[in-house]
Amino acid sequence: MNRLLNRLTGPSAALVLAAGLLAAMPATAAGDAAKGKGVFAAQCAMCHTATKGGPAILGPNLYGVVGRKAGSVGGYNYSPGMKAAGWIWTLDKLEAYLPGPRAMVTGTKMTYGGLHDPAKLADLLAYLDSQK
Ligand code: HEC
Repeated sequence: MNRLLNRLTGPSAALVLAAGLLAAMPATAAGDAAKGKGVFAAQCAMCHTATKGGPAILGPNLYGVVGRKAGSVGGYNYSPGMKAAGWIWTLDKLEAYLPGPRAMVTGTKMTYGGLHDPAKLADLLAYLDSQK
């Protein structure tokens, strides 16, 4: 495969392809939970706690959010859109949601513009995954 690619396109194209495959690896493989804690503090902590038994602020507590059903924290007043979402928050779902919450959940109360930096997002996901 590599030799064929080299013949067709030269060695640099094969390198670009290899780099692309690495970039496509799951976010958790690349993320650093310690750095993600800092991302959470800067981007999320004004509205969320992520420690066990932490209170809701503007948004619900996120302890154990990975693997939890969307809109399911008892006593928290979710938007109808989030209540109806119906999915489980997997890492993939969170990775799709956090760059643009309002694009994925119509009418969400989460008025957060989105986290667009892929490295910060990977670190944040590793941190959320560690809070359980
Ligand atoms: C301005 C406040 C605010 C910020 C900042 C914010 N959120 Fe939220 N978040 C909310 C609110 C409010 C909800 C409830 C949304 C609804 O009911 O539609 C929510 C909901 C969520 C949910 C769904 C929870 C559930 O139980 O289904 C996740 C996951 C989430 N936020 C993650 C994050 C992360 C991670 C960050 C930081 C990158 C963040 N949020 C930043 C306010 C915020």
